[in-house]
Amino acid sequence: MSDVNLPIRPRRLRSSPALRRLTSETSLEPRHLVLPAFVREGLTEALPIGSMPGVMQHSLSSIRCLAADAVDAGVGGIMLFGVPEERDATGTAGSNSAGILNAALRAVKEEVGEALVVQADLCLDEFTDHGHCGVLDADGRVDNDATLLRYQELALAQAEAGADLLGLSGMMDGQVAAVREALDSAGREDVIILAYSAKYASAFYGPFRDAVESALVGDRRTYQLDPGNRREGMREALLDIDEGADIVMVKPAGSYLDVLADVAHASPIPVWAYQVSGEYSMIEAAAANGWIERERAIDESVLSIRRAGADVVLTYWAIEIAQRLNALNSRKVRPRA
Ligand code: PBG
Repeated sequence: MSDVNLPIRPRRLRSSPALRRLTSETSLEPRHLVLPAFVREGLTEALPIGSMPGVMQHSLSSIRCLAADAVDAGVGGIMLFGVPEERDATGTAGSNSAGILNAALRAVKEEVGEALVVQADLCLDEFTDHGHCGVLDADGRVDNDATLLRYQELALAQAEAGADLLGLSGMMDGQVAAVREALDSAGREDVIILAYSAKYASAFYGPFRDAVESALVGDRRTYQLDPGNRREGMREALLDIDEGADIVMVKPAGSYLDVLADVAHASPIPVWAYQVSGEYSMIEAAAANGWIERERAIDESVLSIRRAGADVVLTYWAIEIAQRLNALNSRKVRPRA
């Protein structure tokens, strides 16, 4: 017996695996994960992305296999990004029904049907020759209202191609209302809008720019949020909810867990978070150097995003994590020895 009078001992609940399992506050299941994926025009097979080890630029046929793997692993959805051969000032390839993103949506929808929620990134940056998320005015500034018209055209093309959900990532004012109106006028009340509401002007998108071969010169600070602004993240989320968003998102995730917790606390609609390319590549790079335990770090990073309040996490590790969870689960139901 100890002679210390210490009635309150939090360690009691940590003393066995069974107790830790019973008292665990945060769950992670395959359905909580969405896989972002890149499809590049003109490829006949998948091509590795140098800055994102383990992630590929897909061809129209390899993306089908990836989507089928996502279904098998039980992940909740797949979010597609297109990488076109030709770019121009207004991002024509994005709204062209034969454009790579729309072709990929059609292929994936045909492959998975209702088994997976098929999602499209709705933005212009992959399709414009200047790399901005909108069209430019005569002075080279991103023209908010002219961009909204292009987003409406992208939305109709993506809905037509079979997207169940559109992820509006361009950070133009009024984009949710504009896209909702275009969809509804076309009789597409069924299409879901995920608003990348609190999207910060982040250095952590670096490897993504490589993945989509972005042509961006300059930066996105006139439309994406300043990393120091917490209150403004909430404001953007509330505006998007008012404009009719079905789901709001915070992005990046790991460095913005405070914003995520704020939004999760206040939002009456689902809140998602995007663990972006830089978050992925940092862990992969540290693990490749032997500086960090890869799988533990991955699982902890995603669990932390759930703990902060995300209902769903977009992560490039979605399939891997889902497979790990499935293996763990099948071990748990194994009969006792
Ligand atoms: C814009 C978009 C970006 C990302 C997702 N959608 C790039 C940007 O805003 O610069 C980044 C995702 C990532 O880094 O994983 N279409």
